[in-house]
Amino acid sequence: MDPLLNPFAPGAGTPPPKLAGREEVLKKTEITLGRVKAGKPAKSFIVVGLRGVGKTVLLGEVYSKAESLNYCAVQIEAHENKALAALLLPKLRQVLLKLDKIEKAREVGNAALRVLAAFATAVRASVGEVEFSLSVDPDRGSADSGDLEVDLPDLLEAVGKAAKAKETAVALIIDEMQYLSETEMSALIMAAHRMQQRQLPVVLVGGGLPQILALAGRSKSYAERLFDYPRVGALEEVDAREALAEPIQCEGMDITEAAVREVIARTEGYPYFLQTWGHFCWDVCQTDSIELEDVKRATEKALDNLDESFFRVRFDRLTTAEKDYLFAMADLGPGPHRSGDVAAQMKRKVESVAPTRSSLMKKGMVFSPSHGDTAFTVPMFDTYLRRVRD
Ligand SMILES: Nc1ncnc2c1ncn2[C@@H]1O[C@H](COP(=O)(O)OP(=O)(O)OP(=O)(O)O)[C@@H](O)[C@H]1O
Ligand SMILES: [Mg+2]
Repeated sequence: MDPLLNPFAPGAGTPPPKLAGREEVLKKTEITLGRVKAGKPAKSFIVVGLRGVGKTVLLGEVYSKAESLNYCAVQIEAHENKALAALLLPKLRQVLLKLDKIEKAREVGNAALRVLAAFATAVRASVGEVEFSLSVDPDRGSADSGDLEVDLPDLLEAVGKAAKAKETAVALIIDEMQYLSETEMSALIMAAHRMQQRQLPVVLVGGGLPQILALAGRSKSYAERLFDYPRVGALEEVDAREALAEPIQCEGMDITEAAVREVIARTEGYPYFLQTWGHFCWDVCQTDSIELEDVKRATEKALDNLDESFFRVRFDRLTTAEKDYLFAMADLGPGPHRSGDVAAQMKRKVESVAPTRSSLMKKGMVFSPSHGDTAFTVPMFDTYLRRVRD
């Protein structure tokens, strides 16, 4: 089929040709944003799921919805080696300068800018030089204590008041939240709590790997009540079919029932894999309908492609000890696995491999679905590991 028309282009955060099976989160987005905009209480939420299931795509949908409702929306991606405050600073500056353009309630907007300038001085003191300039005097004593759990709620309260006075709302969208430190997570939770208590129009929407649940729980015991954690995962069969067949049919082409079944079996309905198989099935097909034989040829290419990109980028970031731990997990199957079983597989004591397990968690490679269990955050990573080793 014509590669120019190939509807499938797997990529991090790339919107799929058909966003299938996510009606619930989309509905939740609409209701939450609508309520906050109308000044009604609503819970912030964090989309939780494994690698490649479509969290970033959903956050993109949240961003677009917020824009269409005339929110000031900003999106950041948490990072292992970057402070949350330093990431937020330029984005909140952008928000406040945008709010500043709204003629109403000048003094409230200006007050928020001064709080932000004060926050910036504290950020500079703790994380070093950050690029930031504002032509207002800092409001000394506001959001500049250097304690993020105090300063972030203060800062977002000032932002919320400005948004309210200007009759708009702010959406703060944070991807890869599992990389936040406990203090940062706690500061965000406290800020979200403050927004709810004061009924300010600021909504926080996050996304990240399943370790977020434990991180939030450790940071603040009331985190569970404050946020909703919609789960996203592999698509149900009917949705996977739609995600695959509809884009093909929209281009005037077709796919047989046997071919659809084979793709679903190979991908287990995981969105990134569906896009990858869709892409290669399209490319190898010489007629105007994808058949089982095409899927078989595409499978080889799809696996090579995943091994060289999706899986490989993750594998290359690991130390030898971390790789060994994952190989031992892979030998035991898809998981989750008991930590004791993994250690036994490595012929080591649980305590001696515990630091490796926790560094793998920090890197977002594994998580603990329940106490003492370890699971891969990347779907089908066990089969990849067995392929690269053999
Ligand atoms: N509902 C869906 N239906 C079909 N394809 C989807 C769906 N959601 C996402 N995809 C596709 O899956 C791929 C991965 O999406 P995305 O990057 O949003 O995942 P992610 O969960 O953020 O992954 P990571 O944890 O690696 O950041 C993209 O190519 C996207 O187009
Ligand atoms: Mg993502």
